[in-house]
Amino acid sequence: MHAVIGNWKQNPATIDEVNTLLDSLLAATEDQDANDQHCQLMVAPSCIHLTGVSARLQNTSILAAAQDISAHSSSIGAYTGDCSAQQIADAGATWTILGHSERRQYHKESHQTLVNKVNNAFEHNLGVVFCIGETQTQYDDKQTFAVLDKQLAVIKDSIAKLKEQHIDSKKLSEDLIIAYEPVWAIGTGKVPTVEEVSATHEHIKQTVAAFDKALPAVTVLYGGSVNTDNADDFAASTMIDGALVGGASLKADSFLAIANAFNRAKS
Ligand code: PGA
Repeated sequence: MHAVIGNWKQNPATIDEVNTLLDSLLAATEDQDANDQHCQLMVAPSCIHLTGVSARLQNTSILAAAQDISAHSSSIGAYTGDCSAQQIADAGATWTILGHSERRQYHKESHQTLVNKVNNAFEHNLGVVFCIGETQTQYDDKQTFAVLDKQLAVIKDSIAKLKEQHIDSKKLSEDLIIAYEPVWAIGTGKVPTVEEVSATHEHIKQTVAAFDKALPAVTVLYGGSVNTDNADDFAASTMIDGALVGGASLKADSFLAIANAFNRAKS
């Protein structure tokens, strides 16, 4: 699968601005021929906007994703401030981002928290965009693969649990995307080279493949300061299946230019 996903984070400030962004996205994509689309487009608004965004994206080529779900319960319960996988799916989202570095940093998300979240998502048929990435110090210390392996152990443990529930590995791979996002590249304008990203994606694909023989190759996106200037270079690598875009996804023009770069390269 190829995908370009807009992670809107805690933006925009108002529903009016959300609708303006959606107006532009929908106007530019509604006339596109489905046969020419080789990249799944997705946007992840903040939770408060998810119902409205999902409703407007119904029957369009763009999917709606959440940015997070509750670890504590997949359904309902006394968990003030949380939104469950069931509620997110009911709001119309079909995917959720999990383990974003900002969640790991500001909410101290642990291995077990993330295993619970992944399992809660799958329980309600939400696809998971699982984010991993090393910090600047870890990158400088050449610890990248070791850090990623540790973070990917969440997926290993989730797969083991799902297999106990006899969930088909093929279905699992269709519902899982890994987003490699070096923490030092997020929102900084700094990016690793395409060669570095490609080698890292190869490592991620091999690592996930080793978790279960039946798993087809997992989709791996690159994220971190993807913009209209560097999108073509990333898209040209066969190891890079798409992009998770933060800042540049808040303007329809730049988001669609990035999406088009991947669409052209993956056709
Ligand atoms: P950025 O964010 O594109 O603004 O660097 C990417 C992300 O955090 O997903």
